[in-house]
Amino acid sequence: MTDETHQIADTLPLSLSAADVVGPIRMRRNRRTNWSRRLVQENKISVNDLIWPIFIKDGQGDSEAIPSMPGVFRHSVDKAVKEVERASRLGIPAVALFPYTDPALRDETGSEALNSANLVCTACRAVKAAVSDVGIITDVALDPYTSHGHDGLLEGDEIVNDPTVDVLVRQALNQAAAGADVIAPSDMMDGRVGVIRHGLDQNGFQHIQILAYSAKYASAFYGPFRDAVGSSGTLKGDKRTYQMDPANTDEALREAELDIAEGADMLMVKPGMPYLDIVRRLKDTFQMPTFAYQVSGEFAMIEAAAANGWIDREKAILESLLAFKRAGCDGILTYFAAEVAEMLAD
Ligand code: PBG
Repeated sequence: MTDETHQIADTLPLSLSAADVVGPIRMRRNRRTNWSRRLVQENKISVNDLIWPIFIKDGQGDSEAIPSMPGVFRHSVDKAVKEVERASRLGIPAVALFPYTDPALRDETGSEALNSANLVCTACRAVKAAVSDVGIITDVALDPYTSHGHDGLLEGDEIVNDPTVDVLVRQALNQAAAGADVIAPSDMMDGRVGVIRHGLDQNGFQHIQILAYSAKYASAFYGPFRDAVGSSGTLKGDKRTYQMDPANTDEALREAELDIAEGADMLMVKPGMPYLDIVRRLKDTFQMPTFAYQVSGEFAMIEAAAANGWIDREKAILESLLAFKRAGCDGILTYFAAEVAEMLAD
């Protein structure tokens, strides 16, 4: 500091104090005490807001760590059932199942998605037999099953829309027949919600809900998930011809409007925290049940920073989930769900 700045800082008294500015209004009054802070709190996170994603693998009695997602495992079906039983004890309303498909079963068209004995369907049946009070959400998209890692059918360099939707509706029916409660198309093909709704209704599944990934962005935050389902090594190119451009907002409203018109019961925004503006706009515009997916990259960032001692892990987790609520989310799909449910129960 120079002598000159010192002298300026030492100039007292000033002609204006904070009291002159604030007058009788002081925002800190409500924050002074713990009871008052609790009293004026606008948003809170509850166990009823949580959806827990669970990765499934083949085998028996086996849980396999995912290096880029510390603390998250791929579970064999019997272990996954135990996880859903835990969700039930904790009061978590729903789980979302994602398969790690044996590379030998992956092909150009993702045909394993239509196998009624595939991992997801087997898991649905096993979970349904064991647990009755947890909803099962299944992902509709071909990426865990295709040899090229894309969500749809590839012709040359192009992901072809309408032929993909023909397969997706069969995938959805396959999941519904296995006991899925909520069908969640995450593929971003045009018209898929309408065709899936029609397919479900025609086959006696009028009661099955559709959670539409309406605003799913072509995001760098999906990296660890692609490790988890084994598609990061296989993915050719990127998903920008079907997932949304992170630069766009209005397009998300059009996507949601179409999905609602086609019969979506609930909307999903994905990723989550970098896209809370989208959540707010969808909620304000459509007043639909609106969810966000705190995706694998968001999870990994919190874990990595906490592992380095750079942030307080539990506080950062709870704050991140509260941010979703503040933005207007009715629920959050999060890898922290079980742990947070435990924290909330304490
Ligand atoms: C693909 C799908 C993705 C995720 C869920 N379903 C990845 C992708 O679009 O490549 C990502 C979830 C996460 O990152 O946690 N249908």
